Amino acid sequence: MSLQEKVEQNIGLLIILVILVVSVGGIVQIVPLFFQSSTTEPVAGLKPYAALELSGRDLYMRESCVSCHSQMIRPFRTETERYGHYSVAGEFIYDRPFLWGSKRTGPDLARVGGRYSDDWHRIHLINPRDVVPESIMPGYPWLETTPVDASSIQTKMRALAMLGHPYTDEEIEAAPAVLEGKTEMDAMIAYLQGLGILITKRR
Ligand code: HEC
Repeated sequence: MSLQEKVEQNIGLLIILVILVVSVGGIVQIVPLFFQSSTTEPVAGLKPYAALELSGRDLYMRESCVSCHSQMIRPFRTETERYGHYSVAGEFIYDRPFLWGSKRTGPDLARVGGRYSDDWHRIHLINPRDVVPESIMPGYPWLETTPVDASSIQTKMRALAMLGHPYTDEEIEAAPAVLEGKTEMDAMIAYLQGLGILITKRR
């Protein structure tokens, strides 16, 4: 009986060998990524989200924008022509949790920063159809009238600092004052305007 036949007729041995082959393949593909600077180092100029952007990011999660918008441009021409340079790992070092998303009812937002004016975003978020008549995006008018919650910002920044986000004590100290008098709309727009601007937008 050939080795091939022996393995094929012994289901236990086959299972063990399959697991072995898949693990070696997996390790060879995955482990080098832990040591490559292109996947572990922040891109040049990347800073952790400042207090206002961080609050905007939390609102993005609260309002579930991620259920309609991805933040991940794949390296395909169809995507880079439309959205700009494909996303790279080093842009997401300070994204906890990731908001890459998996569904695009609306466009990808990974490089939406700077694409529109703050006023455009304000009008669009209150009622998208005022600027894009055929839009099916819901409006979020309460963002404009709700003050941004400053009570937990220092706790959040301290927790992120413990995970390695390089906030200084002064930044954490000043955070509540930065949020003073700001609305949820201000925070959301600050967050959106910072998305993906470190890498050349359009090629
Ligand atoms: C039900 C799905 C849906 C949800 C939820 C949703 N959007 Fe949208 N969004 C869309 C669609 C569809 C478009 C394209 C039409 C338009 O511009 O309004 C869009 C467009 C946008 C654009 C313009 C993007 C571009 O490149 O033109 C931004 C910015 C945006 N959405 C932000 C948000 C934010 C912030 C939230 C959460 C507060 C959100 N969206 C929630 C569906 C959604």
